[in-house]
Amino acid sequence: MATEKTCRYTSPSNIALIKYWGKYGRQYPRNASISLTLDSAYSDTSVVYEERAHAGKEVSIDFYFEGEKNAAFQVKLEKYLNSIIDEVSFLRTHHLTIRSTNSFPHSAGIASSASAMSAVAMCLCRIENEIGKPFDSEAALLNKASYLARLGSGSACRSVYPVAAVWGAHPSIEGATNDYAIPYAEHLDPVFHTYKNDILIISRKEKKVSSTQGHALMEGNVYAASRYTQAEQRMTRLLDVMKAGDLEEFGAIVEGEALSLHAMMMAADNPFTLLEPNTLEAISRLQAYREESKVPVYFSLDAGPNPHVLYPAEYQDQVQEFIKREMQSLCHEGMVIGDQVGQGPKEVR
Ligand code: PMV
Repeated sequence: MATEKTCRYTSPSNIALIKYWGKYGRQYPRNASISLTLDSAYSDTSVVYEERAHAGKEVSIDFYFEGEKNAAFQVKLEKYLNSIIDEVSFLRTHHLTIRSTNSFPHSAGIASSASAMSAVAMCLCRIENEIGKPFDSEAALLNKASYLARLGSGSACRSVYPVAAVWGAHPSIEGATNDYAIPYAEHLDPVFHTYKNDILIISRKEKKVSSTQGHALMEGNVYAASRYTQAEQRMTRLLDVMKAGDLEEFGAIVEGEALSLHAMMMAADNPFTLLEPNTLEAISRLQAYREESKVPVYFSLDAGPNPHVLYPAEYQDQVQEFIKREMQSLCHEGMVIGDQVGQGPKEVR
């Protein structure tokens, strides 16, 4: 009788500082991006694998999300796994039962694809190491996991590494490539290793335009070429600034990126915005608070209405008091998710 075994990982979400928006080919980015790896916002994914009686042409899986069979996610996952069937040796020979949950409330308006796809990719590589072709090193395993995560959801490739990761070829970053992310923590001032990132849940509604559609709209966008040049230039500057620990310049670039991302949506051929009135109100209150308190607190935005509030850990008490006082009432049911920079995926045994 075939024996079943289990592999389980938690893997976090990440917040991009230089945004990836626009892609081509097999999920290649139009510009390089850098992100901070988060901690409390993670997916917890287990894969039970068991040899099939006969190898198949396609994958054989069962998928459960938050404890329940989820047909829509299962179809997506099957499509993804079939697309990488030649790159993972056991996908034809083993049946997989995949169960995934998120640490953050379901549809909290937090991008879950980065944590979900990086958790799946970590499990696949750990299982490959166990029953397929062993990796030469842990670094080689992470590299492959980042590559596979990218094919599931571009930004997921950056969640594989602790603290910070860079994805995408860039003239001033040695080793950076469009194929996978590379770890970047060691090049940063230590202040960023413990940075705080609180997420203001302005809205929990499902996005009206998915990121897949958003990326696609960059193709006809008249500003696209300038946007990619802007991202490349800001990246060069941001890396210097993060190395030096210059928080003011860091914040200026990060806020610029958040607004450029949303500007691209508003300037598309089929324009749209994901911003809500309370998103703008929160941004305006945050900027006024910064001006008056001199606390280096800045915002970023994902492809959604929920601001990420970024600041050094030493200001935690002050900023959290400000969030409670002036921001919480702008949030859906007062929902704020406190998070910080984290150490990347962890195997659960
Ligand atoms: O990985 P995707 O296809 O969900 O795209 C993510 C895009 C942004 O979150 C807006 C930016 C980024 O670099 O993470």
